[in-house]
Amino acid sequence: MNTPKFGPLSGVRVVFSAIEIAGPFAAQTLAEWGAEVIWIEHSKYADTIRVQPNYPELSRRNLYALSLNIFSEEGKEVFYDLIKTADIFIEASKGPAFASKGITDEVLWSYKKDLVIAHLSGFGQFGDDYHTNLAAYNTIAQAFSGYLIQNGDINQPMPAFPYTADYMVGLTATASCLAALHKAKATGVGESIDVCMYEVMLRVGQYYMMDYFNGGEMCPRMIKGKDPLYAGCGLYKCADGYIVFEVVGGYQVSEIFKDLGIGELIGTEEYPEGIQLISRKTSKAALFEEKLDEYFGKLNVKDALDYLKSKKIAGAKVLEVSELEGNSQYIARNSIITWENEKGKTVKGPNIMPRFKNNPCKVWRAMPGYGKDTKDILSSIGISEERINKLAEDKIINCGK
Ligand code: COA
Repeated sequence: MNTPKFGPLSGVRVVFSAIEIAGPFAAQTLAEWGAEVIWIEHSKYADTIRVQPNYPELSRRNLYALSLNIFSEEGKEVFYDLIKTADIFIEASKGPAFASKGITDEVLWSYKKDLVIAHLSGFGQFGDDYHTNLAAYNTIAQAFSGYLIQNGDINQPMPAFPYTADYMVGLTATASCLAALHKAKATGVGESIDVCMYEVMLRVGQYYMMDYFNGGEMCPRMIKGKDPLYAGCGLYKCADGYIVFEVVGGYQVSEIFKDLGIGELIGTEEYPEGIQLISRKTSKAALFEEKLDEYFGKLNVKDALDYLKSKKIAGAKVLEVSELEGNSQYIARNSIITWENEKGKTVKGPNIMPRFKNNPCKVWRAMPGYGKDTKDILSSIGISEERINKLAEDKIINCGK
């Protein structure tokens, strides 16, 4: 295994067992930041993500592929040998699946005292009998957390897309693993992190829910893409396309009120000098929205954006995906890059985010084929060729094609 040294996590070794988005996103982010990351797939079947034609090329780049039946007796031995070499282990399953099959945190720590373990699951490692072992994907976490009911339009709730909960959960796992690693390095004692998907979304969905918890008021959903609580915030239609903007700040509010011909409202009791946001509950909020629709409806997108910039109002065109690559900011920052997949085909996708100035990151490896690195990984942890062949014969491992 010749993992190049780069990024802030060079020298950190991560093992993960998870499918689809949430768990892999957590681990693969660490791989993009320089960690050596091993992706375990079942020896009988591959991660379901592999059926997608292009996305895995992005979401599994910089990884090593090991195919192993973790829960068979011989598989467990191999797994523990691997765990001895790891700093972080991430798994995503239905509740406390690993513990229920004998692989408890304590067993793992008996092999690696300072191991950081992250368990991702829909409903957590403990709870009531009905929920704890249930399967979960993005929509389930959104629905169960109060997040989904706030999204969509006034007439219909809708999940935030694409797969927002999976990414929030993945990033929570990434951050909490690194927090725990920091502590483990200092104390020599590991950590076990219970990343419960609905709790992540419960936390993320709080902006308006806090009003409900502390006064019983629930914010309505958006109306045609506009912020339900503040006028002048959200989606607007120009003559040749959609833009978004947020009229926030004392200068911004007073300037746009003047330009819309309602400047005299500023300085009144309802809209005092320096007012920073226009609540929809105020008496002239609807008038403000009417004026905005009328003003921006006549402008083309370019002029609208120039106007917003001149008034220091945050705004952007709602870009079509086909417009991204040609955008001057994307070009200047190299936001979209290309790399070669295993078959030598050029793949195009986002650059690594964020940018580390002193420890730059890179895409150094294409998504590996199923089982591709099984032999190399097992040899690197001291398993003989003879044993590797026997494990393959017994279908405890799969060495790919
Ligand atoms: N070796 C041996 N067994 C393995 C294995 C491996 N390498 N990888 C998985 N398995 C087992 C699992 O323990 C499970 O056993 P069980 O049937 O006794 O419970 C079985 O194979 C199926 O595994 P799993 O990958 O969990 O598939 P699933 O279709 O049952 O459930 C999820 C898939 C995603 C719904 C479930 O894993 C889950 O809820 N995960 C947590 C939340 C999550 O990550 N959701 C996806 C977000 S994108």
